[in-house]
Amino acid sequence: MAMDQVGNDSRLKDLCSQRLSPRRIVLASNRGPIEYYLTEDGQLHSRRGSGGVVTALSSLSRYVELDWIASAMGRGDREMAQRAEGKRFKAPIDNDNLSLRFLVFSRNTYHKYYSIICNPLLWFLQHYMWNSPTTPNIDIVTHDAWENGYVPVNQAFAKAIIEEATISELPPIVILNDYHLYLASAYIRRQMPDVMIQHFTHIPWPALCYWQLLPRSIRQAIFQGLCAADIVGLQTMRDVHNFLHCCESSIDEVEVDYGQHTVKIEGRLVRVKAYPISVDVAGLKKLVSSTRLKEYEQKLRPLCGEQTIVRVDRAEPSKNIIRGFKAFDKLLERHPEFRGKVRFIAFLVPTRSHLRLYQRYMQEVIQLIEVINSRYGSEEWYPIDFFYENNYLQAIAGMRLYDVLLVNAVIDGMNLVAKEGPTVNNRNGVLILSETVGACVQLGENALTVSPADLEGTTQALYTALTMPPDERKKRATALKKSIEEADITDWLWHLLEDAVNLVEERSETST
Ligand code: G6P
Repeated sequence: MAMDQVGNDSRLKDLCSQRLSPRRIVLASNRGPIEYYLTEDGQLHSRRGSGGVVTALSSLSRYVELDWIASAMGRGDREMAQRAEGKRFKAPIDNDNLSLRFLVFSRNTYHKYYSIICNPLLWFLQHYMWNSPTTPNIDIVTHDAWENGYVPVNQAFAKAIIEEATISELPPIVILNDYHLYLASAYIRRQMPDVMIQHFTHIPWPALCYWQLLPRSIRQAIFQGLCAADIVGLQTMRDVHNFLHCCESSIDEVEVDYGQHTVKIEGRLVRVKAYPISVDVAGLKKLVSSTRLKEYEQKLRPLCGEQTIVRVDRAEPSKNIIRGFKAFDKLLERHPEFRGKVRFIAFLVPTRSHLRLYQRYMQEVIQLIEVINSRYGSEEWYPIDFFYENNYLQAIAGMRLYDVLLVNAVIDGMNLVAKEGPTVNNRNGVLILSETVGACVQLGENALTVSPADLEGTTQALYTALTMPPDERKKRATALKKSIEEADITDWLWHLLEDAVNLVEERSETST
Protein backbone atom coordinates (compact mmCIF):
# COMPACT_ATOMS: atom_id res chain seq x y z
CA MET A 1 0.00 0.00 0.00
CA ALA A 2 1.33 3.45 -0.91
CA MET A 3 2.05 5.67 2.09
CA ASP A 4 2.45 9.39 2.31
CA GLN A 5 5.76 10.97 3.21
CA VAL A 6 4.93 11.09 6.95
CA GLY A 7 4.01 7.40 6.94
CA ASN A 8 7.22 6.51 5.13
CA ASP A 9 9.24 8.53 7.59
CA SER A 10 7.80 6.90 10.70
CA ARG A 11 8.06 3.40 9.22
CA LEU A 12 11.77 4.02 8.57
CA LYS A 13 12.29 5.45 12.05
CA ASP A 14 10.69 2.35 13.58
CA LEU A 15 12.84 0.03 11.51
CA CYS A 16 16.00 1.88 12.52
CA SER A 17 15.22 2.20 16.20
CA GLN A 18 13.65 -1.21 16.75
CA ARG A 19 15.51 -3.58 14.47
CA LEU A 20 18.65 -1.93 13.19
CA SER A 21 20.04 -0.01 16.13
CA PRO A 22 22.65 -0.26 17.67
CA ARG A 23 24.10 -1.65 14.45
CA ARG A 24 25.84 1.06 12.46
CA ILE A 25 25.91 1.58 8.76
CA VAL A 26 29.18 1.87 6.94
CA LEU A 27 28.58 3.53 3.62
CA ALA A 28 31.17 3.97 0.90
CA SER A 29 31.10 6.01 -2.27
CA ASN A 30 33.75 7.71 -4.32
CA ARG A 31 32.36 11.20 -3.80
CA GLY A 32 31.58 12.21 -0.24
CA PRO A 33 28.47 14.04 0.95
CA ILE A 34 30.51 17.16 1.68
CA GLU A 35 33.32 18.58 -0.41
CA TYR A 36 35.98 20.86 0.99
CA TYR A 37 37.62 23.69 -0.87
CA LEU A 38 40.36 26.16 -0.07
CA THR A 39 39.82 29.84 -0.67
CA GLU A 40 42.64 32.07 -1.90
CA ASP A 41 43.46 33.15 1.65
CA GLY A 42 43.95 29.48 2.62
CA GLN A 43 40.66 29.07 4.51
CA LEU A 44 39.02 25.66 4.35
CA HIS A 45 35.28 25.72 3.54
CA SER A 46 32.77 23.02 2.82
CA ARG A 47 29.70 22.62 0.64
CA ARG A 48 27.40 19.81 -0.37
CA GLY A 49 28.89 17.33 -2.90
CA SER A 50 27.24 17.04 -6.33
CA GLY A 51 25.41 14.24 -8.13
CA GLY A 52 22.78 11.64 -7.52
CA VAL A 53 24.54 9.58 -4.84
CA VAL A 54 24.88 12.57 -2.55
CA THR A 55 21.34 13.78 -3.27
CA ALA A 56 19.91 10.42 -2.35
CA LEU A 57 21.99 9.32 0.60
CA SER A 58 22.64 12.46 2.59
CA SER A 59 19.35 12.08 4.48
CA LEU A 60 20.23 8.63 5.80
CA SER A 61 22.06 10.03 8.83
CA ARG A 62 18.78 11.45 10.15
CA TYR A 63 17.81 7.88 10.96
CA VAL A 64 21.00 5.94 11.75
CA GLU A 65 24.59 6.32 12.84
CA LEU A 66 26.47 6.53 9.61
CA ASP A 67 30.16 6.14 8.86
CA TRP A 68 30.73 7.43 5.34
CA ILE A 69 33.99 6.58 3.59
CA ALA A 70 34.85 8.52 0.44
CA SER A 71 37.82 9.50 -1.69
CA ALA A 72 39.52 12.80 -1.03
CA MET A 73 38.80 14.27 -4.46
CA GLY A 74 40.29 17.73 -4.45
CA ARG A 75 42.85 19.81 -2.57
CA GLY A 76 40.29 20.81 0.05
CA ASP A 77 39.33 17.21 0.80
CA ARG A 78 43.00 16.22 1.05
CA GLU A 79 43.65 19.10 3.43
CA MET A 80 40.70 18.03 5.56
CA ALA A 81 41.89 14.40 5.57
CA GLN A 82 45.28 15.58 6.77
CA ARG A 83 43.77 17.71 9.53
CA ALA A 84 41.74 14.67 10.64
CA GLU A 85 44.91 12.51 10.46
CA GLY A 86 43.17 10.12 8.07
CA LYS A 87 40.53 9.28 10.68
CA ARG A 88 36.80 9.77 10.86
CA PHE A 89 35.50 13.22 11.73
CA LYS A 90 32.03 14.64 12.30
CA ALA A 91 30.72 16.04 9.05
CA PRO A 92 29.24 19.54 9.15
CA ILE A 93 25.61 18.70 8.46
CA ASP A 94 22.53 19.45 10.51
CA ASN A 95 22.64 16.34 12.68
CA ASP A 96 25.27 14.60 14.70
CA ASN A 97 25.09 11.15 13.18
CA LEU A 98 27.44 11.39 10.24
CA SER A 99 31.14 10.67 10.49
CA LEU A 100 33.15 11.07 7.36
CA ARG A 101 36.50 9.54 6.51
CA PHE A 102 38.46 10.55 3.45
CA LEU A 103 40.84 8.13 1.78
CA VAL A 104 43.81 9.81 0.18
CA PHE A 105 45.45 8.27 -2.88
CA SER A 106 48.52 9.26 -4.81
CA ARG A 107 47.58 11.47 -7.76
CA ASN A 108 48.81 8.85 -10.19
CA THR A 109 46.77 6.01 -8.70
CA TYR A 110 43.69 8.18 -8.44
CA HIS A 111 44.08 9.38 -12.02
CA LYS A 112 44.20 5.80 -13.28
CA TYR A 113 41.19 4.82 -11.22
CA TYR A 114 38.98 7.88 -11.77
CA SER A 115 40.09 9.40 -15.07
CA ILE A 116 40.88 6.25 -17.03
CA ILE A 117 38.64 3.51 -15.63
CA CYS A 118 35.65 5.00 -13.77
CA ASN A 119 34.66 7.82 -16.06
CA PRO A 120 35.86 7.28 -19.61
CA LEU A 121 35.42 3.52 -19.41
CA LEU A 122 32.70 2.40 -16.96
CA TRP A 123 30.54 5.51 -17.02
CA PHE A 124 30.64 5.59 -20.81
CA LEU A 125 29.93 1.89 -21.09
CA GLN A 126 27.00 1.98 -18.70
CA HIS A 127 25.45 4.98 -20.45
CA TYR A 128 25.88 3.45 -23.92
CA MET A 129 28.03 6.43 -24.79
CA TRP A 130 30.61 4.78 -26.96
CA ASN A 131 30.73 5.17 -30.68
CA SER A 132 31.54 1.48 -30.93
CA PRO A 133 33.12 1.44 -34.42
CA THR A 134 35.87 3.66 -33.04
CA THR A 135 35.74 3.72 -29.24
CA PRO A 136 36.79 2.53 -26.75
CA ASN A 137 40.30 1.35 -27.45
CA ILE A 138 41.29 -0.84 -24.57
CA ASP A 139 45.04 -0.79 -24.74
CA ILE A 140 47.92 -1.37 -22.38
CA VAL A 141 47.23 1.97 -20.70
CA THR A 142 43.72 0.82 -19.78
CA HIS A 143 45.00 -2.52 -18.48
CA ASP A 144 47.62 -0.73 -16.42
CA ALA A 145 45.00 1.67 -15.04
CA TRP A 146 42.85 -1.28 -14.06
CA GLU A 147 45.69 -3.13 -12.29
CA ASN A 148 47.35 -0.09 -10.73
CA GLY A 149 44.40 2.24 -10.26
CA TYR A 150 41.01 0.59 -10.01
CA VAL A 151 42.19 -2.54 -8.14
CA PRO A 152 44.26 -0.77 -5.43
CA VAL A 153 41.63 1.92 -4.82
CA ASN A 154 38.99 -0.79 -4.36
CA GLN A 155 41.36 -2.65 -2.04
CA ALA A 156 41.94 0.51 -0.01
CA PHE A 157 38.18 1.10 0.33
CA ALA A 158 37.76 -2.52 1.44
CA LYS A 159 40.53 -2.16 4.00
CA ALA A 160 39.03 1.01 5.46
CA ILE A 161 35.57 -0.57 5.57
CA ILE A 162 36.96 -3.62 7.38
CA GLU A 163 38.68 -1.34 9.89
CA GLU A 164 35.45 0.55 10.56
CA ALA A 165 33.45 -2.67 10.66
CA THR A 166 35.68 -4.42 13.17
CA ILE A 167 35.66 -1.63 15.75
CA SER A 168 31.88 -1.86 16.19
CA GLU A 169 30.44 -4.24 18.74
CA LEU A 170 27.94 -5.63 16.24
CA PRO A 171 29.03 -6.07 12.64
CA PRO A 172 27.59 -3.13 10.71
CA ILE A 173 25.64 -3.20 7.49
CA VAL A 174 27.91 -2.20 4.65
CA ILE A 175 26.43 -0.22 1.76
CA LEU A 176 28.67 0.28 -1.24
CA ASN A 177 27.77 2.63 -4.03
CA ASP A 178 28.25 2.70 -7.73
CA TYR A 179 30.68 1.84 -10.46
CA HIS A 180 33.70 3.11 -8.58
CA LEU A 181 33.55 0.20 -6.13
CA TYR A 182 32.65 -2.94 -8.05
CA LEU A 183 35.50 -4.99 -6.58
CA ALA A 184 35.34 -3.91 -2.95
CA SER A 185 32.70 -6.46 -1.85
CA ALA A 186 34.95 -9.35 -2.88
CA TYR A 187 37.91 -8.06 -0.85
CA ILE A 188 35.68 -7.46 2.19
CA ARG A 189 34.04 -10.87 1.89
CA ARG A 190 37.42 -12.65 2.04
CA GLN A 191 38.06 -11.20 5.49
CA MET A 192 34.51 -10.97 6.79
CA PRO A 193 32.54 -13.93 5.43
CA ASP A 194 29.36 -13.06 7.33
CA VAL A 195 29.14 -9.30 7.12
CA MET A 196 26.03 -8.00 5.37
CA ILE A 197 26.98 -6.17 2.18
CA GLN A 198 24.66 -4.32 -0.16
CA HIS A 199 25.95 -2.82 -3.35
CA PHE A 200 23.77 -0.25 -5.05
CA THR A 201 24.50 0.86 -8.62
CA HIS A 202 22.97 4.26 -9.33
CA ILE A 203 23.55 4.18 -13.08
CA PRO A 204 22.07 1.94 -15.79
CA TRP A 205 23.16 -1.67 -16.17
CA PRO A 206 23.47 -2.22 -19.94
CA ALA A 207 22.89 -5.39 -21.90
CA LEU A 208 25.51 -8.15 -21.97
CA CYS A 209 26.55 -7.48 -25.58
CA TYR A 210 27.69 -3.98 -24.60
CA TRP A 211 29.64 -5.27 -21.59
CA GLN A 212 31.29 -7.72 -23.97
CA LEU A 213 33.22 -4.83 -25.49
CA LEU A 214 35.28 -5.02 -22.28
CA PRO A 215 37.97 -7.69 -21.97
CA ARG A 216 36.64 -10.87 -20.38
CA SER A 217 39.01 -10.63 -17.41
CA ILE A 218 37.75 -7.15 -16.48
CA ARG A 219 34.06 -7.83 -16.90
CA GLN A 220 34.26 -11.12 -15.06
CA ALA A 221 36.01 -9.41 -12.16
CA ILE A 222 33.20 -6.85 -12.07
CA PHE A 223 30.35 -9.38 -12.15
CA GLN A 224 32.05 -11.70 -9.67
CA GLY A 225 33.03 -8.80 -7.46
CA LEU A 226 29.42 -7.68 -7.23
CA CYS A 227 28.26 -11.22 -6.50
CA ALA A 228 30.32 -11.12 -3.30
CA ALA A 229 27.62 -8.79 -1.93
CA ASP A 230 24.47 -10.23 -0.36
CA ILE A 231 22.17 -7.85 -2.16
CA VAL A 232 22.88 -6.24 -5.50
CA GLY A 233 20.61 -3.21 -5.88
CA LEU A 234 19.86 -1.60 -9.23
CA GLN A 235 17.45 1.10 -10.35
CA THR A 236 14.98 -0.72 -12.61
CA MET A 237 13.79 -4.22 -13.51
CA ARG A 238 15.47 -3.85 -16.89
CA ASP A 239 18.78 -3.38 -15.06
CA VAL A 240 18.07 -6.43 -12.89
CA HIS A 241 17.40 -8.58 -15.91
CA ASN A 242 20.53 -7.37 -17.69
CA PHE A 243 22.64 -8.04 -14.60
CA LEU A 244 21.29 -11.59 -14.20
CA HIS A 245 22.01 -12.28 -17.84
CA CYS A 246 25.59 -10.97 -17.46
CA CYS A 247 26.18 -13.31 -14.51
CA GLU A 248 24.67 -16.32 -16.24
CA SER A 249 26.71 -15.84 -19.38
CA SER A 250 30.03 -14.83 -17.94
CA ILE A 251 30.62 -16.55 -14.59
CA ASP A 252 31.35 -20.28 -14.43
CA GLU A 253 29.22 -22.40 -12.15
CA VAL A 254 26.48 -20.01 -11.20
CA GLU A 255 22.79 -20.72 -11.02
CA VAL A 256 20.65 -17.79 -12.04
CA ASP A 257 16.97 -17.78 -11.14
CA TYR A 258 15.15 -15.23 -13.30
CA GLY A 259 11.89 -15.72 -11.37
CA GLN A 260 13.35 -15.14 -7.91
CA HIS A 261 16.06 -12.74 -9.16
CA THR A 262 18.89 -14.57 -7.46
CA VAL A 263 22.35 -15.79 -8.32
CA LYS A 264 23.72 -18.84 -6.54
CA ILE A 265 27.47 -18.71 -6.45
CA GLU A 266 29.98 -20.60 -4.31
CA GLY A 267 27.17 -21.83 -2.05
CA ARG A 268 25.88 -18.30 -1.36
CA LEU A 269 22.67 -16.73 -2.58
CA VAL A 270 22.87 -13.21 -3.99
CA ARG A 271 19.61 -11.27 -4.21
CA VAL A 272 19.37 -8.91 -7.18
CA LYS A 273 16.67 -6.32 -6.79
CA ALA A 274 15.35 -3.05 -8.21
CA TYR A 275 15.15 -0.20 -5.71
CA PRO A 276 14.15 2.92 -7.68
CA ILE A 277 15.88 5.71 -5.83
CA SER A 278 14.20 8.97 -4.89
CA VAL A 279 14.56 12.36 -3.23
CA ASP A 280 14.25 13.67 0.32
CA VAL A 281 10.80 15.25 0.08
CA ALA A 282 10.71 16.45 3.72
CA GLY A 283 14.21 17.96 3.40
CA LEU A 284 13.27 19.72 0.15
CA LYS A 285 10.09 21.15 1.68
CA LYS A 286 12.10 22.50 4.58
CA LEU A 287 14.65 23.95 2.21
CA VAL A 288 12.13 25.81 0.06
CA SER A 289 10.78 27.65 3.08
CA SER A 290 14.25 28.79 4.19
CA THR A 291 15.31 32.43 3.93
CA ARG A 292 18.38 31.64 1.84
CA LEU A 293 16.34 29.84 -0.74
CA LYS A 294 13.86 32.70 -0.90
CA GLU A 295 16.76 35.08 -1.49
CA TYR A 296 17.89 32.99 -4.45
CA GLU A 297 14.36 32.97 -5.78
CA GLN A 298 14.28 36.78 -5.60
CA LYS A 299 17.58 36.92 -7.44
CA LEU A 300 16.37 34.59 -10.20
CA ARG A 301 12.90 36.02 -10.70
CA PRO A 302 14.05 38.93 -12.90
CA LEU A 303 15.71 36.41 -15.25
CA CYS A 304 12.44 34.58 -15.89
CA GLY A 305 10.30 35.21 -18.95
CA GLU A 306 6.53 35.24 -19.21
CA GLN A 307 7.18 31.52 -19.27
CA THR A 308 10.42 29.84 -18.22
CA ILE A 309 12.04 26.60 -19.27
CA VAL A 310 14.59 25.25 -16.79
CA ARG A 311 17.14 22.47 -16.86
CA VAL A 312 19.45 21.35 -14.06
CA ASP A 313 22.27 18.97 -14.88
CA ARG A 314 25.85 18.14 -14.28
CA ALA A 315 27.61 19.45 -17.40
CA GLU A 316 27.83 15.96 -18.78
CA PRO A 317 27.40 14.55 -22.30
CA SER A 318 24.89 11.91 -21.21
CA LYS A 319 22.55 14.69 -20.08
CA ASN A 320 21.93 15.68 -23.72
CA ILE A 321 22.19 19.42 -23.09
CA ILE A 322 23.04 20.25 -26.69
CA ARG A 323 20.00 18.55 -28.20
CA GLY A 324 17.86 20.33 -25.61
CA PHE A 325 19.08 23.73 -26.83
CA LYS A 326 18.76 22.68 -30.48
CA ALA A 327 15.13 21.81 -29.85
CA PHE A 328 14.62 25.22 -28.21
CA ASP A 329 16.30 26.87 -31.18
CA LYS A 330 13.81 25.16 -33.53
CA LEU A 331 10.95 26.25 -31.30
CA LEU A 332 11.93 29.93 -31.54
CA GLU A 333 12.49 29.63 -35.28
CA ARG A 334 9.11 28.04 -35.90
CA HIS A 335 7.11 30.05 -33.35
CA PRO A 336 8.24 33.67 -33.40
CA GLU A 337 5.41 34.42 -30.95
CA PHE A 338 7.59 32.95 -28.18
CA ARG A 339 10.50 35.30 -28.87
CA GLY A 340 10.81 37.91 -26.18
CA LYS A 341 8.52 35.86 -23.95
CA VAL A 342 9.99 32.45 -23.22
CA ARG A 343 13.28 32.23 -21.34
CA PHE A 344 15.46 29.16 -20.93
CA ILE A 345 17.58 29.07 -17.75
CA ALA A 346 20.14 26.26 -17.44
CA PHE A 347 21.83 25.40 -14.15
CA LEU A 348 24.88 23.42 -15.12
CA VAL A 349 27.16 21.92 -12.49
CA PRO A 350 30.86 21.51 -13.34
CA THR A 351 31.91 17.86 -13.35
CA ARG A 352 35.01 15.88 -14.38
CA SER A 353 36.27 19.11 -15.91
CA HIS A 354 39.86 17.86 -16.11
CA LEU A 355 38.76 15.36 -18.80
CA ARG A 356 39.19 16.77 -22.32
CA LEU A 357 35.92 15.31 -23.49
CA TYR A 358 34.03 17.13 -20.78
CA GLN A 359 35.88 20.39 -21.49
CA ARG A 360 35.01 20.13 -25.18
CA TYR A 361 31.42 19.31 -24.40
CA MET A 362 31.05 22.38 -22.21
CA GLN A 363 32.68 24.56 -24.89
CA GLU A 364 30.16 23.27 -27.43
CA VAL A 365 27.32 24.00 -25.03
CA ILE A 366 28.50 27.58 -24.52
CA GLN A 367 29.02 28.14 -28.26
CA LEU A 368 25.52 26.94 -29.01
CA ILE A 369 24.04 29.19 -26.32
CA GLU A 370 25.87 32.15 -27.87
CA VAL A 371 24.62 31.29 -31.36
CA ILE A 372 21.01 31.02 -30.19
CA ASN A 373 21.25 34.18 -28.10
CA SER A 374 22.63 36.18 -30.99
CA ARG A 375 20.15 34.68 -33.46
CA TYR A 376 17.05 35.68 -31.49
CA GLY A 377 18.35 38.19 -28.97
CA SER A 378 18.10 41.96 -29.05
CA GLU A 379 19.47 44.79 -26.92
CA GLU A 380 16.72 44.24 -24.35
CA TRP A 381 16.22 40.50 -24.44
CA TYR A 382 18.01 37.21 -25.10
CA PRO A 383 16.57 33.72 -24.82
CA ILE A 384 19.08 31.66 -22.76
CA ASP A 385 20.73 32.29 -19.43
CA PHE A 386 23.00 29.77 -17.80
CA PHE A 387 24.91 29.24 -14.59
CA TYR A 388 27.98 27.04 -14.45
CA GLU A 389 28.64 26.36 -10.78
CA ASN A 390 27.96 23.86 -8.01
CA ASN A 391 25.26 25.82 -6.21
CA TYR A 392 22.56 23.46 -5.04
CA LEU A 393 20.36 26.08 -3.37
CA GLN A 394 20.31 28.23 -6.48
CA ALA A 395 19.36 25.27 -8.65
CA ILE A 396 16.53 24.32 -6.30
CA ALA A 397 15.35 27.95 -6.36
CA GLY A 398 15.42 27.77 -10.18
CA MET A 399 13.21 24.69 -10.09
CA ARG A 400 10.64 26.58 -7.99
CA LEU A 401 10.16 28.89 -10.96
CA TYR A 402 9.87 26.71 -14.04
CA ASP A 403 6.87 26.43 -16.33
CA VAL A 404 8.68 23.63 -18.11
CA LEU A 405 11.44 21.39 -16.75
CA LEU A 406 13.44 19.74 -19.50
CA VAL A 407 15.01 16.39 -18.59
CA ASN A 408 16.07 14.85 -21.89
CA ALA A 409 19.09 12.75 -20.82
CA VAL A 410 20.38 10.22 -23.34
CA ILE A 411 20.10 7.61 -20.60
CA ASP A 412 20.17 7.80 -16.83
CA GLY A 413 19.91 5.30 -13.99
CA MET A 414 17.10 7.30 -12.38
CA ASN A 415 17.57 11.10 -12.78
CA LEU A 416 16.75 12.79 -9.51
CA VAL A 417 16.23 16.24 -11.04
CA ALA A 418 13.02 14.79 -12.51
CA LYS A 419 11.90 14.10 -8.94
CA GLU A 420 13.29 17.23 -7.26
CA GLY A 421 11.67 19.55 -9.81
CA PRO A 422 8.01 18.60 -9.36
CA THR A 423 8.53 18.42 -5.58
CA VAL A 424 9.69 22.03 -5.21
CA ASN A 425 7.98 23.73 -8.17
CA ASN A 426 5.06 26.01 -7.34
CA ARG A 427 3.83 26.99 -10.81
CA ASN A 428 2.22 23.70 -11.85
CA GLY A 429 5.14 23.35 -14.23
CA VAL A 430 5.23 20.65 -16.91
CA LEU A 431 7.89 17.93 -16.87
CA ILE A 432 9.39 16.87 -20.19
CA LEU A 433 11.06 13.54 -19.57
CA SER A 434 13.31 11.31 -21.59
CA GLU A 435 11.91 7.80 -22.09
CA THR A 436 15.32 6.36 -21.31
CA VAL A 437 15.76 7.58 -17.74
CA GLY A 438 14.81 5.31 -14.85
CA ALA A 439 12.39 7.93 -13.49
CA CYS A 440 10.20 7.52 -16.58
CA VAL A 441 8.82 4.22 -15.29
CA GLN A 442 7.19 6.08 -12.40
CA LEU A 443 6.65 9.58 -13.78
CA GLY A 444 6.14 9.04 -17.52
CA GLU A 445 2.34 8.94 -17.26
CA ASN A 446 2.16 12.53 -16.02
CA ALA A 447 5.09 13.93 -17.97
CA LEU A 448 5.50 14.65 -21.67
CA THR A 449 7.87 11.89 -22.71
CA VAL A 450 10.46 12.25 -25.45
CA SER A 451 12.97 10.03 -27.12
CA PRO A 452 16.30 11.72 -26.38
CA ALA A 453 17.61 11.85 -29.96
CA ASP A 454 14.28 13.04 -31.36
CA LEU A 455 14.87 16.76 -31.90
CA GLU A 456 11.56 17.20 -33.64
CA GLY A 457 9.70 15.41 -30.85
CA THR A 458 11.47 17.50 -28.22
CA THR A 459 10.57 20.74 -30.04
CA GLN A 460 6.96 19.61 -30.20
CA ALA A 461 7.01 18.64 -26.51
CA LEU A 462 8.29 22.12 -25.63
CA TYR A 463 5.47 23.64 -27.67
CA THR A 464 2.84 21.39 -26.06
CA ALA A 465 4.18 22.18 -22.60
CA LEU A 466 4.21 25.93 -23.16
CA THR A 467 0.67 25.95 -24.54
CA MET A 468 -0.86 23.44 -22.13
CA PRO A 469 -4.13 24.61 -20.55
CA PRO A 470 -3.80 25.51 -16.84
CA ASP A 471 -6.13 22.77 -15.58
CA GLU A 472 -4.17 20.10 -17.46
CA ARG A 473 -0.92 21.49 -16.03
CA LYS A 474 -2.37 21.41 -12.55
CA LYS A 475 -3.65 17.86 -12.90
CA ARG A 476 -0.27 16.57 -14.05
CA ALA A 477 1.80 18.57 -11.56
CA THR A 478 -0.37 17.40 -8.65
CA ALA A 479 -0.12 13.78 -9.74
CA LEU A 480 3.67 14.03 -10.06
CA LYS A 481 4.04 15.55 -6.59
CA LYS A 482 1.85 12.85 -5.06
CA SER A 483 3.65 10.01 -6.76
CA ILE A 484 7.08 11.31 -5.69
CA GLU A 485 5.89 11.85 -2.13
CA GLU A 486 4.59 8.31 -1.89
CA ALA A 487 7.90 6.87 -3.03
CA ASP A 488 10.36 9.33 -1.51
CA ILE A 489 13.86 8.62 -0.25
CA THR A 490 12.62 7.31 3.10
CA ASP A 491 10.59 4.70 1.20
CA TRP A 492 13.71 3.73 -0.76
CA LEU A 493 15.84 3.54 2.37
CA TRP A 494 13.19 1.50 4.12
CA HIS A 495 13.11 -1.09 1.36
CA LEU A 496 16.89 -1.25 1.21
CA LEU A 497 17.41 -1.51 4.96
CA GLU A 498 14.45 -3.77 5.60
CA ASP A 499 15.86 -6.33 3.14
CA ALA A 500 19.27 -6.09 4.81
CA VAL A 501 17.85 -6.38 8.33
CA ASN A 502 15.70 -9.37 7.33
CA LEU A 503 18.78 -11.17 6.08
CA VAL A 504 20.81 -10.29 9.18
CA GLU A 505 18.00 -11.60 11.40
CA GLU A 506 17.59 -14.76 9.32
CA ARG A 507 21.29 -15.42 9.63
CA SER A 508 21.45 -14.91 13.35
CA GLU A 509 18.46 -17.25 13.78
CA THR A 510 20.12 -20.01 11.79
CA SER A 511 23.42 -19.59 13.62
CA THR A 512 21.81 -19.88 17.11
C1 G6P B 1 26.46 10.33 -10.64
C2 G6P B 1 27.10 9.07 -10.12
C3 G6P B 1 27.80 9.32 -8.84
C4 G6P B 1 28.78 10.43 -9.01
C5 G6P B 1 28.07 11.66 -9.52
C6 G6P B 1 28.99 12.83 -9.75
O1 G6P B 1 25.43 10.73 -9.80
O2 G6P B 1 26.13 8.06 -9.96
O3 G6P B 1 28.48 8.18 -8.40
O4 G6P B 1 29.40 10.73 -7.79
O5 G6P B 1 27.42 11.35 -10.72
O6 G6P B 1 30.02 12.47 -10.58
P1 G6P B 1 31.49 12.87 -10.16
O7 G6P B 1 32.37 12.07 -11.06
O8 G6P B 1 31.53 14.35 -10.39
O9 G6P B 1 31.59 12.46 -8.71
